Amino acid sequence: MRKKVTVIGAGNVGATTAHRLAERGYADIVLLDIVKGMPQGKALDLFEASPVVGVDAKITGTNSYGPTRNSDVVVITSGIARRPGMSRDDLLATNMSIVKDVTAQAVKASPKAVVIVVSNPLDAMCHVAFEAAKLPAKRVIGMAGILDTARYRSFIAEELNVSVRDVNAYVLGGHGDTMVPLASYTTVAGIPIQELLPKKRLDEIIDRTRKGGAEIVGLLKTGSAFYAPSAAVVEMVDAIVLDQKRILPCAALLTGQFGIKNLYVGVPVKLGAGGVEQVMEIKLTPDERSALRSSARSVKGLVTDMARINKAKAAQASKAASAAKRAAKRTAQKTTAKKTARKSAAKK
Ligand code: NAI
Ligand code: 2OP
Repeated sequence: MRKKVTVIGAGNVGATTAHRLAERGYADIVLLDIVKGMPQGKALDLFEASPVVGVDAKITGTNSYGPTRNSDVVVITSGIARRPGMSRDDLLATNMSIVKDVTAQAVKASPKAVVIVVSNPLDAMCHVAFEAAKLPAKRVIGMAGILDTARYRSFIAEELNVSVRDVNAYVLGGHGDTMVPLASYTTVAGIPIQELLPKKRLDEIIDRTRKGGAEIVGLLKTGSAFYAPSAAVVEMVDAIVLDQKRILPCAALLTGQFGIKNLYVGVPVKLGAGGVEQVMEIKLTPDERSALRSSARSVKGLVTDMARINKAKAAQASKAASAAKRAAKRTAQKTTAKKTARKSAAKK
């Protein structure tokens, strides 16, 4: 039986993810969006490329969850993207309700799927998807660390004029300004980065990495990065569908590892058919450990903000319900009064 991957959100990240997956050919793909005709059009276009590319994947575009049934992997990219001047946190309120809704529907159709969350703010959206999915945490995973690490690796390779393939590194923590590039795990063909680059230059590269998403947003003016993000998503899908047991930096729910509990934070994990098969609790320097905890605190801040937003929404809904109830009561009273008046007029 062929594997099936559903991509929710057929915008820039979703469509390029579907494109990369289609060219791999190992799974059928379903592309879903709320915009009528758009996922169908993109899916048809991708399908029409397949004779040239030489793959036989079935690619379906849809606005409903029926065709997504029994997917092995569900990738969630739906939501609004960051615009210039907009922080990832500004996206919080809108993307919370989108991610909650699409996750619940997708998991209902594919209860055995591994869910990869991409929508921003990433770490917060992992919490939303985890709660909505009601799946074991190892099957709800966030994509950000591979992207942040890829940016860091690219900048180092460019600086040293070496192949990007020879630069190994980890960027951990939340997908935001507090992300934690690990100098102690940054090597070029096994050579520690400190032997190749002065600290000042490495710090500049780390700073550029932290601002990597914003740099692209600033250049594009509308929308945010999607080529590197979709490449990162597909590296995760490969690891899961092909049970590769790759060690990759992903957002996973921590249960005490690195001294962090009940928070989604970017850490190295072993990724295979079961999702997160192990969190790799690598040794960190005291500075890196404290930076990771501080990054986790900013994720905690987002989780607290979401709880506040939910509470405010619930209070607003209950206020609206009470107002509707009072209005209905007033209407009923008026109707009764009119009836009584009519009856007494009739008696006279
Ligand atoms: P986009 O705007 O191009 O695409 C988003 C798509 O989601 C749109 O086509 C929209 O119609 C669709 N959508 C909205 N509500 C939906 C719903 N209820 N059901 C189905 N589809 C729905 O945005 P782009 O560039 O593809 O980015 C998508 C998300 O991924 C954004 O939140 C962005 O910030 C995030 N992102 C995260 C990265 C990461 O490292 N985790 C990297 C790049 C983007
Ligand atoms: C990025 O880092 C927008 O989170 C996205 O490019």
